[in-house]
Amino acid sequence: MSDSSTSVELADSLRGLVTRLSPGDRLPSSRELVQQYRVSPVTVARAIAVLAAEGAVVTRPGSGTYVALRARRDRQAADTAWQTVALTDRAVDTRLVADPPAPAPPGTITLDGGYVHRSLQPTRALSAALARAARRPDAWDRAPANGLSTLRTVFAEQAGGAVTADDVLITAGGQSALSIAFRAIAAPGSPVLVESPGYPGALAAARAAGLRPVPVPLDADGLRPDLLADAFAMTGARVLYCQPAFQNPTGAVLAPGRRGQILDVARASGAFVVEDDFARHLGHGGPVPGPLVADDRDGTVVHVTSLTKSTAPSLRIGALIARGPVMERMRAVRLVDDFFVSRPLQEAALELLSSPAYPRHLRSLAAALRDRSGALAAAVTREIPDATLAGLPGGGLHLWVRLPAGADDTAVAGAARQHGVTVSAGSRYFAAEPPAAHLRLGFAATADLAELDEGVRRLAAALREVRPAGR
Ligand SMILES: Cc1ncc(COP(=O)(O)O)c(C=O)c1O
Repeated sequence: MSDSSTSVELADSLRGLVTRLSPGDRLPSSRELVQQYRVSPVTVARAIAVLAAEGAVVTRPGSGTYVALRARRDRQAADTAWQTVALTDRAVDTRLVADPPAPAPPGTITLDGGYVHRSLQPTRALSAALARAARRPDAWDRAPANGLSTLRTVFAEQAGGAVTADDVLITAGGQSALSIAFRAIAAPGSPVLVESPGYPGALAAARAAGLRPVPVPLDADGLRPDLLADAFAMTGARVLYCQPAFQNPTGAVLAPGRRGQILDVARASGAFVVEDDFARHLGHGGPVPGPLVADDRDGTVVHVTSLTKSTAPSLRIGALIARGPVMERMRAVRLVDDFFVSRPLQEAALELLSSPAYPRHLRSLAAALRDRSGALAAAVTREIPDATLAGLPGGGLHLWVRLPAGADDTAVAGAARQHGVTVSAGSRYFAAEPPAAHLRLGFAATADLAELDEGVRRLAAALREVRPAGR
């Protein structure tokens, strides 16, 4: 039996024990549990971590583990069944964006992260920027609804072309921007074309807005314009979602010849193109294509950008860039949603973007991402020789790996977790049937290169387990 399945059983037994004890009571020590249940210290640590994450116990380093004062069972005593009737059937599906129900046990290697590891974040510059922002006398005042004009100017300059600060709306990160754009552009029940595979968070936001994502395939050169015209004609969609630069999950870059074609097809169909530019500052040192919005002549493009990926997940500052009535609509949606984005965070973002530390950080981030991408690809080629890599991306945080024939991506991801590594099952990235089994492997969320190697070794072991020899 694997260590993880034993830890699940031990967690079950300890849950029973917790219900027999009183709040504040001390659980037997780890050593006692090892002896009593005849399991390893790692198994005990994993089981305790699960209970702590559930809120059933609290651990006090150097002292022991105690039954939580307000154990979950107290909270579950209330009969909330009436709410199921009151809330009817409008469930919001978070499966595509949420963490798995149980936290990964300590020691698990993260190959499924969507943000850079703390060691790659500009933490010192961020703290200094936030401290400077907090010292401003107006730090806690209301912020303008569209965002600080100085910050909007920085985003406008980044976008280039004819974009000005008036075309920019500050949002609380990219996910919020996507959600605003979908709700502003399309009425519930209408279709939205999405690249396939594509970012699951965009699928979730579109579905939460009541839209029906319709997949349009991409290849190594990005979204296929030849299929796009048909898709618009067949569905009557008035919006396309795509990521032209270092697409998540494939890393594909939209080929120069396709950029104009996509804008032309969308324009001819009377549709908007939502350009998710999440990877603008995640290039690996080579050329980074300019944003589509810089080529936009007639308000076709709604551009989404965010600072979280190149800095830290909690710098939740992003922007929507667009021209014409669609921007008015998006401003209205934002205003009604949450009035404005936290002023100290906007000021901190501005401080960071204007400091000399930021370009320095981006240069070292690019080099680190390039090294990590190469190391992960080498480990996959060595440990899983019958998997197929889509090629080394020039930017972004992930590799897109096609699994050997016969492998089931969800089963592989589940087995990998049991082996101490988290990976992302490829089927999450498709709005309809996936054409083949893939995994998305991230190279940015581990502590270092050694963890990448070890993570792939664990993944290879998991793959062998779910795919017995000979298949
Ligand atoms: C392609 C893409 N777009 C947008 C986002 C949203 O990120 P955030 O809300 O942190 O800016 C993500 C995050 O994973 C992403 O991968």
